[in-house]
Amino acid sequence: MNRNACIPNWNSSELAKDRASGLVPASSAHDSLSPKQDRTCPLTADLCADWRGGCPVRVDDVTVTPLIRPMVPDDVTAAEDLSGEAFGDHRPVARATAWIARTEHLLRTDPGGCWVAEQDQRLLGFATSLVRETTWILASYAVLPTAQGQGLGRGLLEAALQHGRACLHGMLCASDDPRALRRYRAAGFDLHPQMRLSGRLDRSSIPPLDKVREGVEADLDLMDSVDRGVRGAGHGVDHHLLTRQLPLLVSDTSTGSGYVYVDPAAGPRLLAATNRRTATRLLWAGLALCQDQVLIENVSSANQWALDVGLTARLELGHQGYLAVRGVRPPTPYLPHGSFL
Ligand SMILES: CC(C)(COP(=O)(O)OP(=O)(O)OC[C@H]1O[C@@H](n2cnc3c(N)ncnc32)[C@H](O)[C@@H]1OP(=O)(O)O)[C@@H](O)C(=O)NCCC(=O)NCCS
Repeated sequence: MNRNACIPNWNSSELAKDRASGLVPASSAHDSLSPKQDRTCPLTADLCADWRGGCPVRVDDVTVTPLIRPMVPDDVTAAEDLSGEAFGDHRPVARATAWIARTEHLLRTDPGGCWVAEQDQRLLGFATSLVRETTWILASYAVLPTAQGQGLGRGLLEAALQHGRACLHGMLCASDDPRALRRYRAAGFDLHPQMRLSGRLDRSSIPPLDKVREGVEADLDLMDSVDRGVRGAGHGVDHHLLTRQLPLLVSDTSTGSGYVYVDPAAGPRLLAATNRRTATRLLWAGLALCQDQVLIENVSSANQWALDVGLTARLELGHQGYLAVRGVRPPTPYLPHGSFL
């Protein structure tokens, strides 16, 4: 049996280069999985020709061997709760509802990208991912705190990566968790520190706003085309969900185009534009829609223009996790969505 059958083959030359330079371990996590166990992947052979059950882990002083299987709709509420445990931050109802809607959306669009680890019908971990055109994206990833650090996350991430095995590019917004960062680097991702700007918005700093309007359904093709120019792939069906969840602003002039989704209770959520001037205009317009306390998240160092806006608005600059990319540079001008990027 070909043990490499499950190793994602995208960007393999770059991975080989990193391995040769010693940056990435010589063997992938998948290479070292134990021999085939009695639990097999319920998916078709073409999705994963060589799948195995999860590794033995100790949970609450008991050794168990969880099954890693595709996520189903009945898992979603438990997964949301588990992610609250794992991140040490249970979401308020409105955010939990939006998380559940996003995950149910992914189960419809990318059932092969969403996996759980389960023992006796108890959820121990999950990974959800999506493929949009040439890009694989990790949406969410968590293991129950009492089961962490024992290899379960490795199995889940390998299963999700399989979904993107034909993709040229990969992207995800990583937490600061050292276990997660080990996993991503071992999978060949480059890690770029991200910043955040938060605090009370100084409304007197907002410049006159023009050339920005409310987005409509007919803008989705334009938005996908902006996405392709900035990050190599349109958001496609994700725009349909996002437009139902968040207000959308669009700027489309002879010199540039772009869009921003805004959560008025929190801050701008996803912004892409063809140039910095348009991005800056959209970010100001997005901030103007927000309540006084705002948060601009996921600002990679390639997006200094966003720092200029946030600092002018008297927000505080801080560090926040990493942008992890494979086969692509950190996009700009761009503020990614944490799950759909
Ligand atoms: C990230 C997460 C899903 C990984 O799952 P996991 O089951 O813990 O992962 P694994 O055990 O397979 O891998 C963890 C790696 O970190 C290592 N590790 C364990 N504890 C560690 C620690 N305290 N510091 C640094 N590394 C640690 C493990 O040895 C392993 O590395 P190795 O395979 O090279 O030996 C899980 O830890 C988690 O839920 N974290 C909190 C939520 C989070 O941040 N999710 C990621 C969102 S981007």
